[in-house]
Amino acid sequence: MQSFDVILRNAHVNGAYVCDIGIKHGLISSLGVNLVASENTQIIECEHAIVTPGGIDGHVHLAQDKSPRAREAGYQCADTIETGTRSAVAGGTTTVLLFAEQSRGESVLEKVDAYHQLATYQGSHADYGFHIIITDPTPKVLEQELPVLARQGISSMKLFLTYKHMRISDKDFLRALHKARELGMVALVHAENGDLVDFFTEQLESQGLTDPVYKAIAHPAAAEAEATNRAVTFSSVMDTPLLIVHVSVPESTEVIRKAQSHLKPVFAETCPQYLLLGKSQLAQEHFCGAKFICSPPLRSDPNDVEAIWRGIINGTFTIFSSDHCPYSFTGPHGKQLGLSRADNGNPNGMFTKTPNGLPGVETRVPLLFSEGVLRRRCIDIKRFVELTSENPAKLYGLYPKKGAIQVGSDADLVIWHKSFTPRRLQHDRDLHDGCDYSPYEGIEFLNWPKMTLLRGRVVFRDGQIVNSSKYGEFVPRKGCTLPLSRKMVGSWDVLYAAS
Ligand code: URP
Ligand code: ZN
Ligand code: ZN
Repeated sequence: MQSFDVILRNAHVNGAYVCDIGIKHGLISSLGVNLVASENTQIIECEHAIVTPGGIDGHVHLAQDKSPRAREAGYQCADTIETGTRSAVAGGTTTVLLFAEQSRGESVLEKVDAYHQLATYQGSHADYGFHIIITDPTPKVLEQELPVLARQGISSMKLFLTYKHMRISDKDFLRALHKARELGMVALVHAENGDLVDFFTEQLESQGLTDPVYKAIAHPAAAEAEATNRAVTFSSVMDTPLLIVHVSVPESTEVIRKAQSHLKPVFAETCPQYLLLGKSQLAQEHFCGAKFICSPPLRSDPNDVEAIWRGIINGTFTIFSSDHCPYSFTGPHGKQLGLSRADNGNPNGMFTKTPNGLPGVETRVPLLFSEGVLRRRCIDIKRFVELTSENPAKLYGLYPKKGAIQVGSDADLVIWHKSFTPRRLQHDRDLHDGCDYSPYEGIEFLNWPKMTLLRGRVVFRDGQIVNSSKYGEFVPRKGCTLPLSRKMVGSWDVLYAAS
């Protein structure tokens, strides 16, 4: 007879059917009714609560302040790997994919090694993997280092088409995609036209228009749409899977949808800030607008937000990530740099000197559950699970170890009780991150995870981190298993591509 370390009784699995979930050695070992407990089995009575797979957040910046440029600018990420992953599990996310950033001239292998060491030293509450940010795709990086990373289970790279210190040329972009194809890696692209953003920014600066509110004007929708179109075209030419990250405007969403309808291997990500926040927040007084500075910026038109919701509903967006990139509002190394380093005499500061990014790793899953499933009722639990867990697992080569409630999968589980009393978010009372504010302060949450389990251990219960032990482990990843309509098998061929 099977024995279990833990049994979740009467779990409403993905809102689809009710059964017991038996767990042994951190894995789901049985799904059935009336599973038999031994005297050592821990029983968790779910009372028909919905149980979903642990969230997978494919876009999390933690401790990403070690680059020479970040040091020079004085930026300090508000979260360590320890505090950021503590916050993740408290919001139902059990796996995070972090960014190891290559500065120009650096080895990507050394960079990833440094992040491994940091994670081991600080400890992690969630399982984790790394994307490599490539800013300098030299022959050595592409030919010698990336194959090593791919073998180590780092199966994704992020490429930037904007930011002076990070962006790559079109030719380097193609070279990187070519290599990604060969190695079975997914390329994530930050799609904004850097020259267009720079030109708009210079125009604003020359007129002294640098208050936080001008951030939205400096990054027009056209910059995102142009770069998205270019990235989609390149992915199509190279016939290699590509993810456009943090999509914020309908123009880009349309480009992506059209490519998908032509069966191009293009995937898309959006984030809570583009569904729930708008550019009016940038106008908050006393420099509080800086709390909402991120790239791409918050958009204003309610139609933009509706177009993003449509993409959530109709499948254009493959994954829903946080782009958690926290800088504290108070203190000298976060958002205040936009005031303290302002050298143009504008008492309202400079958005160009303000670190970009919003915190959100803890609120991502509960926000989509609350707003999408419960308030708008525009998505069902199946689609919610796809966006927050199953699709990130498939895209990033973690499925079915992660992203599924199946026999053999890791017992990463989130329990949502119906008895939750709706409450308005208060950062200091409710959240567990290292930042000092939430952009979602005051939003009413209609539900929140009652419990989070990581590989069978309860790590969060009733608002509290349960165990101070940090069980999170590095998870090596394989290639993308989302359906692709690949024309070409084997290596890319220029004559075939041109035909
Ligand atoms: O503002 C943002 N999103 N900062 C993080 C860096 C990035 O581009 O994802
Ligand atoms: Zn980005
Ligand atoms: Zn990001």
